[in-house]
Order: sequence, then C-alpha cells, then structure tokens
Amino acid sequence: MAFLSDALLRVKPSATIVMTQKARELKAAGRDVISLSVGEPDFDTPDNIKKAAMDAIARGDTKYTPVAGIPPLREAIAAKFKRENGLDYKPSQTIVGTGGKHILFNAFLATVNPGDEVIIPAPYWVSYPDMVAIAGGKPVFVETTMAHGFKLQAADLERAITPKTKWLMLNSPSNPSGAAYTHAEMKALTDVLLAHPHVWVLTDDIYEHLIYGDFVFVTPAQVEPRLMERTLTMNGVSKSYAMTGWRIGFAAGPDQLIKAMDMLQGQQTSGACSIAQWASVEALTGPQDFIAERRKIFEDRRNLVVSMLNQAKYLSCPAPEGAFYVYPSCADAMGRKTPDGRVIANDADFVGALLDAEGVAVVQGSAFGLGPNFRLSYATSTQALEDACSKIQRFCASLQ
Ligand SMILES: Cc1ncc(COP(=O)(O)O)c(C=O)c1O
Repeated sequence: MAFLSDALLRVKPSATIVMTQKARELKAAGRDVISLSVGEPDFDTPDNIKKAAMDAIARGDTKYTPVAGIPPLREAIAAKFKRENGLDYKPSQTIVGTGGKHILFNAFLATVNPGDEVIIPAPYWVSYPDMVAIAGGKPVFVETTMAHGFKLQAADLERAITPKTKWLMLNSPSNPSGAAYTHAEMKALTDVLLAHPHVWVLTDDIYEHLIYGDFVFVTPAQVEPRLMERTLTMNGVSKSYAMTGWRIGFAAGPDQLIKAMDMLQGQQTSGACSIAQWASVEALTGPQDFIAERRKIFEDRRNLVVSMLNQAKYLSCPAPEGAFYVYPSCADAMGRKTPDGRVIANDADFVGALLDAEGVAVVQGSAFGLGPNFRLSYATSTQALEDACSKIQRFCASLQ
C-alpha cells in the first residue's frame, strides 16, 4: 500500500510469531496441537519478584521514571555485570528498556546509517535482520555449519568485515541453535575485532544463565577488555527470571552510546514500566538459587529431546550448550514424500507437513537463515516433549 513507509517494506513478520499463531488457531479449531515454537520459559515469575512489583504499586511507584531507568535498577545492573561477568560499568553507563528487543532496536537506530553493514552469523534470531533493515543498514549474513556447532569462525568473520562494517551482532547462547561460545572460541573472534578498530560488537547475552553441564558463559568485553570501548553488552530479565511479560531489558556500554540511546528513548517510549523496573531490582538483587534449579530441569529436557530426535529417521541433532532450543538438521528428509504424496522439498515443507500430520508445531530453519533445519523449543513440560518427539519420530518414519 502506497501509504505505508519504505522502512516498513523492508520488514517481514516474525516467523516464530506466525507459527505460534498458526498452532493457536489449530488448537482453537479443536486439533490436538503441541506447540514447540515459542521462546519463553514455561515457569512462572518467582514470588519474591511478584511481591516487589505489588509493593511498588502499594508505595505509589507508579509514575514516570527517568528515561534510562530508576537509579536502584541501574545500580543493580552495574553490580550484576561486575558480579557475574567481571565487567566494570558505572550505573550511568547502563540503560533500561522495554525488553531486550527494545534495547537492540534502539542501539541500531542510534548508530546505523544508510549502507552501514551489520554482520549477523546465521542461524540468527529472527528479529536482528529486520531491526538492522528498519534502521537503514544492511545485514551481512555469515553462515555457520553444524560441524562447527553453529558457531562463527574467526576466518569467516575476518572475510566478512569491510570498511562499511559497523557492528558484529553476537548471541551466545543462541536463539535458535542453543550454541554458546567457549572462552577460546570467543577469544578467536575478539582477536579479529581487535585488528579492526572501526567494528563494534553488540552482544545479546539474554540466555546467559541457561547453560548446561560444566559450560562456562563468557561475554566479549570480559574476554577482551580492550574491546570495552566498542562493545554494547545487552541482557535482560525475560529468560533468566521467567519475566517475558514484564518487558525489561538492559545494556551497558560506552558513555556516548548510552547517552545517545537515552536521548532516542526520551523521544520514544521514555522510561520502561515503573512497576516492572522495581520487580527487576528484586530479580537482580534477590535470591538467585531458583536459576540453578530451573537450569537443571532445562538440562534434563535438552538431553531427552536430543536423544529422542537422534532416534528419529532422517534427523541429526547436536546437543547445544545452552538456551532452550535445539536445531536439528532434516537434510536427509529432503526429496522424500509424505504418505499422502506431498514432496518435502525444504524445511518449511517439513514443518508444515509435520504440523498437519501430527499436530507438532516447530519453526523452519530457513526463517533463521540456515537450513534445512528446524528449531524446537523445549521450554515446555517433559510429558509434552516426550509426546511431541514420539510424534516427530512417527512422522519421520512415515516419509518415503
Ligand atoms: C536472542 C534473543 N534476544 C532478545 C530477545 C528479546 O527479549 P525480550 O523479551 O526481553 O525483548 C529474545 C526473545 O525471544 C531472544 O530470543
């Protein structure tokens, strides 16, 4: 429609939201559907955090807040970065936004000029390319491989950098692959960045606490402090504290960038919800033990899903280090037919036929820029996962 902006023409709907909606509609129509397409913990927000929000309401902390966040939250964020990541940020170098998504969006809007390039390793979270495109920039995709655990290789990063590169977008643990970088793997990337002083790194650490086994989480500015001056470290309470609906995300970075994002946000959303900010103070400063308890549950589910998917014909599923997704390859199913004669030509066909045949909703890898794969979210009950994986096995066995 001519009335709509050019910027909007560069955007496509989020594939994960489309699939979640499709599953919801089928369910409403009476189909038995297991949706493994959503990206949020199935746990509830802990009670102490809910209580902090209710206390904020009772106290009357229900008014506008400073644009970049209430001082106790910015202090708690700076303390979190010190305690958990060894990063020395002043509270004034932090900013609170309406979800991690908002923070990322504003970081791009505040820095990207037409033609600027943002390197995005694939598979990637669906929103990165569209955010860059809305800001007028050019997403530059660098494909990873399953053999390398879906992790960006230093040589590939080196090759992708041009004089127009503004940011490297990193996400560890990753949505959709669950891949997380070890210290050595991250160091290989930060070494490349050190040699290219015009390139900044935006690191989306939102799944930081969802890591399994003895894996140790690292973030770029911690691995290479000399990059601190050109790193935006983004994080949030959505995934770690089961607070997706509260809409609080945050970041820390160099003064000038944080000031620019503060100014932009001042003309846009202003401060994030006051009540959710007070809840987030409690999340970051209150008891943390439930994180480990929930992590153990997620880890058991990951092991279950990886094992069951690897028993399915034509699938191959690596065990990721973190987040709550697996990203199996369905390459061996390509070209095969369903019992009703549909040819599976790509991963979108695979997930469409799986939904029709067995009522299991997952998201095609092509939506995340790398396939033929699919993303399965295991943030749901063990029973539902067992049922879903049995159905996936049955579906795969039916292909010829
Ligand atoms: C990789 C990644 N970054 C950011 C977000 C957004 O988080 P928030 O809900 O805080 O906006 C998500 C949510 O799905 C995500 O998967």
